Amino acid sequence: MDRLYVIQTLMKQRKLKNYLEIGVFNGHVFFRIQSSFKVAVDPEPNFTVYRKIGKTVFNPSNFFNQYFQKTSDAFFIEDACSLYKNRQIEIALIDGMHEYSYALRDIENTLDHLSDDGIIIVHDCNPRNREHACSFKEYKDRNFTGIWNGDVWKAIVHLRAHRDDINVFVLDCDHGLGIIQKGKPRHHKPKFNGPDIASFTFEDLDSNREEWLGLKPANYFYDHFSLYPSAQW
Ligand SMILES: C[S@@+](CC[C@H](N)C(=O)[O-])C[C@H]1O[C@@H](n2cnc3c(N)ncnc32)[C@H](O)[C@@H]1O
Repeated sequence: MDRLYVIQTLMKQRKLKNYLEIGVFNGHVFFRIQSSFKVAVDPEPNFTVYRKIGKTVFNPSNFFNQYFQKTSDAFFIEDACSLYKNRQIEIALIDGMHEYSYALRDIENTLDHLSDDGIIIVHDCNPRNREHACSFKEYKDRNFTGIWNGDVWKAIVHLRAHRDDINVFVLDCDHGLGIIQKGKPRHHKPKFNGPDIASFTFEDLDSNREEWLGLKPANYFYDHFSLYPSAQW
């Protein structure tokens, strides 16, 4: 199970349409999504106009895509209020800068425009090892090679500790898929404050991941949302 499958299954079975993706890279996920209201935000997308045209032939709904070549912070300040004035985000993939404070802002800003039954998916919430969980500086120093999940996981811990109005857990698949919905939390709130969380290490996460992330096996996805397994399309 990966993010594309989770998004497509939720969109099809929950009838969710308006899609936002923060951090699209080459559009591997973005171009496959079927929706006439798709928004891509990335300061450095990795595709040409020819790829856009090719992907529109393959999936005609790409004709309606809206692209914002800027950081997610700039997008939320400059564009989101007018874009979402009359229609809310129904499903979002947050996969931009993989640092605690960036991921947290992306989630909180998306929540401001999310419909009541909307769903946010956050990629990279469950790093397997210390190398995958390293800082942006370490990732840069190793020439951006290998897997980098960063410390997005701290944004998940932060929200589980601080928010009473959202339910947050992580599916144990595809580097950890955070799932966020509006509504009462269905978990015990960890008692941490912001500075505590910022200072946690990968080793702290590794000793507490089930509890801190609300880590669930991938198949919990079907039970939680009352879905049936669907063939990938
Ligand atoms: C891991 S890639 C996204 C992969 C894509 N979501 C997928 O599933 O195939 C991360 C992307 O985030 C973008 N990014 C980095 N900083 C960002 C920021 N501040 N706001 C939005 N996107 C950002 C990068 O340019 C990069 O293309």
